[in-house]
Amino acid sequence: MTPFFLADFASRAMSAIDPERAHHLTVKALKTGLGPKANIADPRLACDVAGISFPNPLGLAAGFDKNAEAPAAMLDMGFGFVEVGAVTPRPQPGNDRPRVFRLTEDQAVINRYGFNNEGLDKIAARLAARRRNGIVGVNLGANKDAEDRTQDFVDGLTALAPLVDFLTVNISSPNTPGLRALQDKDALLNLLSRIDEARSSLPERRPVFLKIAPDITDEDKADISAAVRAHSIDGVIVSNTTITRPESLSSSDAAQVGGLSGAPLFEMSTRLLHEFYGVLGKDIPLIGVGGVSSALQAYEKILSGASLVQLYTALVFQGPGLPSKILKTLPDMAASDGFARVADAVGAKS
Ligand code: FNR
Repeated sequence: MTPFFLADFASRAMSAIDPERAHHLTVKALKTGLGPKANIADPRLACDVAGISFPNPLGLAAGFDKNAEAPAAMLDMGFGFVEVGAVTPRPQPGNDRPRVFRLTEDQAVINRYGFNNEGLDKIAARLAARRRNGIVGVNLGANKDAEDRTQDFVDGLTALAPLVDFLTVNISSPNTPGLRALQDKDALLNLLSRIDEARSSLPERRPVFLKIAPDITDEDKADISAAVRAHSIDGVIVSNTTITRPESLSSSDAAQVGGLSGAPLFEMSTRLLHEFYGVLGKDIPLIGVGGVSSALQAYEKILSGASLVQLYTALVFQGPGLPSKILKTLPDMAASDGFARVADAVGAKS
């Protein structure tokens, strides 16, 4: 269909083109309504998470539709929800190119985009103009040169909360120097207090999720769990890309600087998800993301504690038919384990 997706013939022919350009062309094509329309209406997929009723638990992860240009097309593809962004208060160009690399042999991507986006005003206008059908959330980031990064999250939250179904506080992108330090205990407690304060003056309550990195210590895990419990965070997204490089990588671009996503991230992010499920249990819902490329892997995330699942990189390699392929298989997979609804399987792995 479109060149960023390598699955179909035309896309394969285009696979030699620069991945950032391919990404850009794909979003442009989707915007014009060229994407496929999946028909997924299996009641066994429906789930209620953080006060939202989702038609199915599979979502598009942040970073694909950075400027909220094509959420409707992605919902049409079958996704039960779409997370746009990351959005920073002021527009910013991001890092120098090249800044995104396909690791085809490893079914992975490395990106160091660095929150390139059109900024709050433009993206807010786009979200305000969209027809409110389908669940759309926004991933919030901070400007690279912000003096007070915490304030950037507060500004993003305040401006966008009325326009979306949920918001994600993303303190786990590896491509904005120092951002991940907001995961440290004191910085995180301060950030979450200020988020709580900002939320208390919003006219309507909106769920807020916290997105974390896979590269964290045991101490970080304990601090994050405690901080999330102490504040009104509605869900934790596990996880963002990794700055580690598994030895198994064989692509020539494996040593590029940036965040690694896709197949090599599956195991480490699923292990972390399961650990968080052990601590936060059913009190705080978890969103599992990292390396999902099949129904079996989506199911594994659910068994490991994910109430919702997101993906991005597998779409690049498998194309726009992937969400419906996963969603058509998932209910039977759960049924064969005795779960009437997919949601009944959440956390069932011992
Ligand atoms: C991302 N991801 C990301 N995450 C985020 O919270 N904000 C962002 O702006 C971005 N940007 C971004 C760009 C690109 C090119 C990629 C590949 C990824 C991370 C993404 O949402 C997800 O957490 C990881 O990619 C892991 O999932 P997959 O891709 O392995 O399914």
